[in-house]
Amino acid sequence: MKPRIAVLHGPNLNLLGTREPAVYGSTTLARIDQDLRDLAEQLGVQVDCMQSNHEGALVDRVQAMAQDGTRFVLLNPAAYTHTSVALRDALAAVALPFVEVHLSNVYRREAFRRTSYFSDLAEAVISGCGALGYSLALRFAADRLLTKAQN
Ligand code: DQA
Repeated sequence: MKPRIAVLHGPNLNLLGTREPAVYGSTTLARIDQDLRDLAEQLGVQVDCMQSNHEGALVDRVQAMAQDGTRFVLLNPAAYTHTSVALRDALAAVALPFVEVHLSNVYRREAFRRTSYFSDLAEAVISGCGALGYSLALRFAADRLLTKAQN
């Protein structure tokens, strides 16, 4: 069985493509998810992608990961990065390794975006690489999982 990686996108990321393209780029979320599925196939892992605008739905999804065989998470919490103790606590509860991904460089923007409720729990943080950041995160996750599997 290929190791399972969950990809979780937070609020407003469903609007990628038309949402502030100068900040977030012009790649749609559907394209990002398809590129991740294609790359996962090449790398020998499987990805399961989900987006929600609702904090509770994201918390429910993270809780479910404890039972569904998920081994690693790629997470763009979007605006919840800067606000959500609930989503942070869910990640801590399931104790799954995750990479925090941001399309934009959050350190080059408004001061409130420099606070993350996730970075200190994350294995890695990728911020400012645009859609490519997700592919980099997937390569990292696959490397971790497949290298560990060989030991
Ligand atoms: C974001 C950065 C957040 O500050 C913002 O609220 C988002 C997207 C990013 O991918 O750059 O919605 O997570």
